[in-house]
Amino acid sequence: MNTKVNLAGIELKNPVMTASGTFGSGEEYSEMFDLGYLGAVVTKGVANVAWPGNPTPRIAETYGGMLNAIGLQNPGMEVFAQRDIPFLKKYDTKIIVNVCGKTTEDYLAVVERLSEEPVDMLEINISCPNVKEGGIAFGQDPKAVEAITREVKKYAKQPVIMKLSPNVTDIGVMAKAAEAGGADVISLINTLTGMKIDINRRTFAVANKTGGLSGPAIKPIAVRMVYQAANAVKIPVIGMGGIMDADDAIEFILAGATAVSVGTVNFRNPYAAEEVVKGIEAYMERYGVKDIKELIGAVR
Ligand SMILES: Cc1cc2nc3c(=O)[nH]c(=O)nc-3n(C[C@H](O)[C@H](O)[C@H](O)COP(=O)(O)O)c2cc1C
Repeated sequence: MNTKVNLAGIELKNPVMTASGTFGSGEEYSEMFDLGYLGAVVTKGVANVAWPGNPTPRIAETYGGMLNAIGLQNPGMEVFAQRDIPFLKKYDTKIIVNVCGKTTEDYLAVVERLSEEPVDMLEINISCPNVKEGGIAFGQDPKAVEAITREVKKYAKQPVIMKLSPNVTDIGVMAKAAEAGGADVISLINTLTGMKIDINRRTFAVANKTGGLSGPAIKPIAVRMVYQAANAVKIPVIGMGGIMDADDAIEFILAGATAVSVGTVNFRNPYAAEEVVKGIEAYMERYGVKDIKELIGAVR
């Protein structure tokens, strides 16, 4: 059976990746399973300089998911390049670095710095709902999506994945804007903006007031958006949002995703990503699917 998929010329041994921000750079999870089982590891967002993140509390549980407002805390690209890339290079998996920034120049500085590193692909996060500048400000206006994609493509040595926000009216328009700017791949969805109020403390459950909702509660929205995006563009789509197991992953693939990312479930079950890989193989065996490509976008 063939589980290999191709993203803009990069061949993944299987379509399973980790969702940015839910897997660190894989160190803790490498104690649970061999990261070489995964098609790719997607790192936490990296900026040009260190970001302290938002005040605490930053996470809260919700029905079927969680709210987070981490605010993209990260050590900055130098520490990342020296510490995390050599760690990931030890494993037989592809390395995808998630990039964040407050201005176009911030993003470009990281993209340029990473051009010298053994990184397979870049994922540009223009969809974080938890930072005041940058992030989602780029991701909600199709003209801005096209413009920043074009800029990033001028500097990037690796293929570029644009990560789209679900906090928009028409995801097809945003997908087309990224494609028009030259994106090689798009990924979606990032978190949906939400709010929780602690009625005993009579205040917001996360200090940022709003947070990004993730986990199984958002999955039907994510599947719908992946379907719409995949049908709007010709470039490959990476699907995510509430994947808990292999069945969920297959749903995204049938909706049109070439690859999938496993996110929030990692916090509950650190073996989840490896289990998704094995579960996809079991599904293919059960239904006599010889090549995973037969499943991509099979439901129309
Ligand atoms: C705690 C946390 C941190 C996250 N950090 C990032 C990030 O740094 N960059 C990014 O593009 N997405 C980030 N995300 C969004 C996830 O990568 C993913 O798009 C989203 O959570 C939906 O998938 P899930 O429901 O499987 O978690 C984060 C999500 C969570 C829960």
